[in-house]
Amino acid sequence: MGVLKRYGEHLPISERTPLVNLEEGSTPLVRLDRIGDELGIELTAKLEGCNPSGSFKDRGMVLAVAKALEDGARAVVCASTGNTSASAAAYAAHVGIPCYVLLPSGKVALGKLAQALIYGAKVIAVEGNFDRALEMAREAAAARGFAMVNSVNPYRIISQKTGAWEICESLGRAPDLHVIPVGNAGNISAYWAGYKDFKSWGKISSLPRMIGIQAEGAAPLATGKPCPNPETIATAIRIGNPVSARTALIAAAESGGQFETVTDEEILSAQSMLASRAGVFAEPASCATLAGLVKLSHAGKLPKGAKTTIILTGNGLKDPDTVMSRVGRPIKIGDSMEELLEALS
Ligand code: F0G
Repeated sequence: MGVLKRYGEHLPISERTPLVNLEEGSTPLVRLDRIGDELGIELTAKLEGCNPSGSFKDRGMVLAVAKALEDGARAVVCASTGNTSASAAAYAAHVGIPCYVLLPSGKVALGKLAQALIYGAKVIAVEGNFDRALEMAREAAAARGFAMVNSVNPYRIISQKTGAWEICESLGRAPDLHVIPVGNAGNISAYWAGYKDFKSWGKISSLPRMIGIQAEGAAPLATGKPCPNPETIATAIRIGNPVSARTALIAAAESGGQFETVTDEEILSAQSMLASRAGVFAEPASCATLAGLVKLSHAGKLPKGAKTTIILTGNGLKDPDTVMSRVGRPIKIGDSMEELLEALS
């Protein structure tokens, strides 16, 4: 029913807030028993790629855009590694206002770029990384009076808390371990706030440990060092200076959690594992979660039987290029049955 309707009583909505709705949220929480058994944990995955624009961004974007309309904004603007721009463009199109997106040139997965363009956003490719594009977008928003819909917009984070609420409602409790990819660090901050809400409302009795996974080449939080030139195949989380660093560090510390790094190779291997052993195709950044679990498991640091939820933040179809460069090719045959039976053997 869309997050504004499903959770409206807990969101900052007034009679003047338009109930924007693309039926975002209420995404599946799927048990991954084959992989869970292998790791010795009870594993579930939240399939955020099932949102209307194919990523978790829609949860927050719906409220950010509704509030922009309520405040009379003429247009929305964002910088993005791809998914925020796809989501902003989709919601702007839905409500009929212009959308401007700044992308790091050449570093956005093809599907995400196609989305922003087909939804009708004005797409600007910046010769610089995401962190620089974000600074520019913030200045542009101020200069032109556009609504800024990156996660510096507080409505984004507030509405992204709905992911945590849904998990608790599905499980009837919070997981023991919450494992999530971290880029600009808004989502881990939102989930932690969401779990704490549910505890303070008496709906759950325990809180999860928050485990944030970063790509090795873009890991300012895991290493505690700034990362001026982030690089990773998981372009969604190719971020060196996370805006929500402070709240993310608090989430990990308060929850007894941690940050972990994974290599690009580990990410790609986890992506194959998820697809071939669970039937779930998620984009590389999302698969950093499973890569992190595998790494912790090898290090003997995964508590046996822990109820573990990974957030698969984006759909695998957004980034076919990373897949096609390493999977096999179709077997080509003519149109004879002989050749087919031979191919099937
Ligand atoms: N996973 C995916 C698929 C993402 O697109 C992002 C962020 C993250 C994880 C990290 O979330 O930033 O809240 O820590 N993508 C942003 C974008 C930066 O522009 O689409 P975060």
